[in-house]
Amino acid sequence: MPELCVNIDHIATLRQARGGTEPDVIASARVCEANGAAGITVHLREDRRHIQDSDAAALKGTVKGCFNLEMALSDDIIGAAKKIVPDQITIVPEKRAELTTEGGLDVEANRAKIAKIVKEFHEIGVVVSLFIEPYPETVLLSKELGADYVELHTGTYCNAGPQTVRHEIERIYAAARAAASAGIGLNAGHGLNYTNLPPLLKAEGLHELNIGHSIISRAVFTGLEIAVQEMCRIIKQQ
Ligand code: PXP
Repeated sequence: MPELCVNIDHIATLRQARGGTEPDVIASARVCEANGAAGITVHLREDRRHIQDSDAAALKGTVKGCFNLEMALSDDIIGAAKKIVPDQITIVPEKRAELTTEGGLDVEANRAKIAKIVKEFHEIGVVVSLFIEPYPETVLLSKELGADYVELHTGTYCNAGPQTVRHEIERIYAAARAAASAGIGLNAGHGLNYTNLPPLLKAEGLHELNIGHSIISRAVFTGLEIAVQEMCRIIKQQ
């Protein structure tokens, strides 16, 4: 059964709106784990628009399950991540002006840099995942560069209309099969919610689901406990 890692960036976004201490990011991580999450994901962005270095350092000390740090291939962030030493890093592309991560990494264009980062983080005991578009050839290249996992970008599937949704989920299934036969671990995330998740759960060999916006949005109405529990229930029902 796949595990849920809750992305709590949006808790930090709310806090940053007023520059104070509420809502408490560390307390939110505890609530997620107490209600079924197997881990916590945060994205330490170059502009520090939500998660701060101090949040990541504190989470390293409090998250009991997998602490997954999403990060771009920038020297500043690589240096910060080496100080934090999370359980896992997920390398993502990052553009300053984007509202959220737009698409997967260009693994081919960054192959030398990625291979170097994979080696350096393995040396300090950190698992490495690459956030990629669901193409079998990108899965194979990620394996070749030494990554432990790929995280398939599910955003295109999640935004697809009735004409293309079948095609998009089939692309994900094909990339999942490629991961299983290549022997690389499989994560997925971006845009997943309480209704579009069930078809994704049919993908072969899913290990970890990174879900943030839909859970935090539901939490506004139900509370974080119930929002996390409901997502875990959907995962278990498959
Ligand atoms: N996975 C990655 C690599 C991401 O960048 C994000 C967004 O920060 C997520 C998963 C979570 O996406 P969402 O907030 O849409 O659930």
